[in-house]
Amino acid sequence: MPDTTAKVSIRDTAKAVIRAIDDAGENPTKLRQGILEATDPLRRRADLLDLGTKRLANHIEANSKHLYYDGELSITLDRVPTGRVIPPHDHGLWEAVLVCTGSLQHAIYQRADDGSVEGYAELELVEDRVIQPGDLALVIPPAEIHSFEALEEDTWLINVVGGNYRAHRNYFNIEAQTVVYAKAGTYRASPPPAPVGATA
Ligand SMILES: [Fe+2]
Repeated sequence: MPDTTAKVSIRDTAKAVIRAIDDAGENPTKLRQGILEATDPLRRRADLLDLGTKRLANHIEANSKHLYYDGELSITLDRVPTGRVIPPHDHGLWEAVLVCTGSLQHAIYQRADDGSVEGYAELELVEDRVIQPGDLALVIPPAEIHSFEALEEDTWLINVVGGNYRAHRNYFNIEAQTVVYAKAGTYRASPPPAPVGATA
């Protein structure tokens, strides 16, 4: 009799994710589908939220854990706090944001200016939707700026990241059309203030 209670391991999940990344090549649609499928058995584990080791997170300080890390791939498990919007920021790499429980309002942007004027940034909204369990948002260059907000208590995410997060990020103030390069985690609940003299 097959053991129907067998649980997929984190290690096997990581291997499946690596295969999905390799198979996808430069195709974001394939990457999206591949990561969704590769992580599906893990996301179904009843003890999912007990897995992982504590992580010092940049924007989600309350409950963030490493599930897997090898220097080129990182998989984290994060509980997103309610009542605040994580302000728009970039990563310098791609990230897949999978919702395990709860729901997430998630917006993706890309730069509409050429970045030649220091402190100025124009963002174009690429996607703004509610992500629910079984779905993911793929934040991938050139549209690798995102902001998000948990819509429910106990909104847990799995983040699959293709590399190491930069220690510093660009934080955007969409209304003021400004950008600040700051240590990751500097702006956790609101966008950076517009610099003095900036025009909206
Ligand atoms: Fe992020």
